[in-house]
Amino acid sequence: MTRQNTALWLPRRGARFEVGPAPYTPPAANEVVVRVRAIAVNPIDGIPGFLYRLALPWLTFPAVVGSDVAGEVVETGSGVTRLRPGDRVLGHAFGVDKSQNRAAESAFQHYAVLMQHMVAPIPDSLPFAQAAVLPLALSTASTGMFQQDHLGLAIPGAPDLSQPVDRSETVLVWGGSTSVGANAIQLARSAGYQVVTTASPHNFDYVRSLGAAAAVDRSSPTAVEEIVERIGGSPLAGTLAIGSGSLTKTIAVAARTTGSKRIASAQPALFTRITARRARRLGVRVSSIWGGTLKDNEVGPAIYVGFLPGALSTGAYRAAPDATVVGHGLAHIPDALRQLKNGVSAQKLVVTV
Ligand SMILES: NC(=O)c1ccc[n+]([C@@H]2O[C@H](COP(=O)([O-])OP(=O)(O)OC[C@H]3O[C@@H](n4cnc5c(N)ncnc54)[C@H](OP(=O)(O)O)[C@@H]3O)[C@@H](O)[C@H]2O)c1
Repeated sequence: MTRQNTALWLPRRGARFEVGPAPYTPPAANEVVVRVRAIAVNPIDGIPGFLYRLALPWLTFPAVVGSDVAGEVVETGSGVTRLRPGDRVLGHAFGVDKSQNRAAESAFQHYAVLMQHMVAPIPDSLPFAQAAVLPLALSTASTGMFQQDHLGLAIPGAPDLSQPVDRSETVLVWGGSTSVGANAIQLARSAGYQVVTTASPHNFDYVRSLGAAAAVDRSSPTAVEEIVERIGGSPLAGTLAIGSGSLTKTIAVAARTTGSKRIASAQPALFTRITARRARRLGVRVSSIWGGTLKDNEVGPAIYVGFLPGALSTGAYRAAPDATVVGHGLAHIPDALRQLKNGVSAQKLVVTV
């Protein structure tokens, strides 16, 4: 069957997005092709040309960007046994990753090539638009929490709701109402950790519904003291720092609590590196997350193959935050990116295609 692909192209650095024809790329042995039905947007997708040069200096043009995909498998590579055409899935698209740098693997198009081990089947009850909120945020949280070069926490296994694990240790998630934070809270709970988090007060119920035991106002002048008090005698297993200002505050918490002094930071790499030097003097170890590295180690398959499909189908894991559909068709993605720049609270902007 001949398939016609269409993509949202970036013709050159700094240019505007343009919808246009794109080649249909068949899958290699360990890849699948997905007919994309919903795409979520992330801050990195909409950064202007000069910032792309800083964040993605390797990106070649014309480029297709985007990481978050949900849709149906249409073709599988010769080495793929766990997925079949017709399967409803979500997946992390790696087209802008340094190791790939390939338009065919990005999200902003009708047919995307995905690595099979970074794709998870989704239940029929989960709409594509809601499933698309997960991939990059889930990958970023998983990278920070489970990779050995970050927090090295215990990876959750298949969910057993009758026998929840209790590790009697706390994970601090600064920025629990972000998309990355929503996943970090749920992953930490699924692995048996207690979670203390921050959010604005209007999102306290939301972060508690995801499993946080305590929520502290991130803007409170006494946030550090309040968090230290909430952590109490339960030693820290590690900290995820998400959102501007998070690193300085979480370093102060780690310096004043017992347990792990490791912080994984989702803040920009350069800022994280500079702040990490100061943290070392306090005995705190800070590492910088790149939300795609899990595809190259045991964490990616442990989450997308081992954990997520069962956790979604039993309802133990929620596709959070809620999706807000901005429009239908690739041409609506720039609108979604403009809305994202204006700020969102506990929601993910999605375009259906
Ligand atoms: N390193 C990586 O690979 C990687 C990958 C993905 C994302 N990120 C970064 O991670 C951060 C979160 O991204 P996202 O897509 O998850 O965000 P998002 O879903 O767009 O986050 C929206 C939420 O951010 C909260 N927020 C705003 N400013 C904050 C701050 N200074 N500290 C803590 N929370 C704040 C708001 O919560 P309230 O309304 O409750 O205040 C809002 O609900 C961004 O900085 C992003 O660039 C890094």
